[in-house]
Amino acid sequence: MASKYLNALVYSVGLYTLANPFIHYAKSHRTLTQVDTAISNGERLRLLYGNDPRATVLITGSSDGVGKLMALQLAKYGFNLMLVSRSGEKLEGVKWQCMELNPQGRVSTVAMDFANVDPTKEMKEVFTMFDKSSEGDKPQLRMLINNVGVMDGKKILENTPEELESLLRVNIFTQVFMTKYARSVMPSDKHNAFVHLSSFLSELPFPFFGTYAGTKVFNKVYGKLTYEAQNTNRPDTLIVNPAGIVTNMTKDHMRSSSYVPPEKVVHAIFRELGSREQYKEINGCKEHMMAAVSLGLTPRPLWGVVKTWMGQQKEYPKKQQ
Ligand SMILES: NC(=O)c1ccc[n+]([C@@H]2O[C@H](COP(=O)([O-])OP(=O)(O)OC[C@H]3O[C@@H](n4cnc5c(N)ncnc54)[C@H](OP(=O)(O)O)[C@@H]3O)[C@@H](O)[C@H]2O)c1
Repeated sequence: MASKYLNALVYSVGLYTLANPFIHYAKSHRTLTQVDTAISNGERLRLLYGNDPRATVLITGSSDGVGKLMALQLAKYGFNLMLVSRSGEKLEGVKWQCMELNPQGRVSTVAMDFANVDPTKEMKEVFTMFDKSSEGDKPQLRMLINNVGVMDGKKILENTPEELESLLRVNIFTQVFMTKYARSVMPSDKHNAFVHLSSFLSELPFPFFGTYAGTKVFNKVYGKLTYEAQNTNRPDTLIVNPAGIVTNMTKDHMRSSSYVPPEKVVHAIFRELGSREQYKEINGCKEHMMAAVSLGLTPRPLWGVVKTWMGQQKEYPKKQQ
């Protein structure tokens, strides 16, 4: 009799394990393909995080790639923005594009090299521009998008000490300090949000990009724990684990058909943020969700073989010139 129940339990767990990636896919598919009905997606986000003329979104790494496109999309939705990134000249270009899309919006820029900045000084100073009280006309921070990230193409242990320092500073220090400072200036009586850019490589680390993958595991775990550690007024939190995106970061990669333009990932981010669950992890577009489903169904030993093979290669396959 006991073995009958045990069998049923084992089968149920097996069935759940097999079905889980498909359930995850189906849920996200529904959110991504839903048609705007009563209110548009922009209105929904504005009601949640932009219901104050001072409400502002801070985006790191917003002079290019996914960060730049998020800035343009939020400008279209009518948000005020603070863009913090390395190249001042490129930031000015993004600022003017945002102003064209939303002439009433306020867009400020801070040029900062996260690899060489002191997080206890210059990074902290950025947050003196915000005020969480309900009076005054200083910007009010309602959403932080921890987007900035750099990638190494090398095998783990082959990075120079300087490359390692830069990777850890940009990918880890920035997220940790920005999140801490942001939380201290967000108004506690309002709805706020955090978006953390991790990566599919956090789910499937390879010998190449190994240190990068490690930082992306950190980004995901840190984002989740900062959500769970708060008892009151928890901010909506979205962790994004995309696979290949066509940006500068991957310009030398041999790009497979699952590489998508950044617009698709940005669409997914703003569809999923604040809809249904307060905390959510997504892969982004449908192509990346399919990659996650395949990963969930692939026997682990097979990945072991692929990883061993990759570990024996000298270089990660590059795009043919
Ligand atoms: N691309 C992909 O396939 C992929 C896949 C999964 C996850 N992601 C994640 O998505 C996020 C965005 O990636 P992306 O592809 O959009 O990257 P990207 O096109 O290379 O853009 C990176 C942005 O970060 C800025 N930046 C780089 N180093 C900086 C530094 N030291 N200080 C300040 N700003 C710096 C860049 O500024 P400049 O204007 O000065 O260059 C640029 O605005 C990253 O966190 C990445 O890990 C990307």
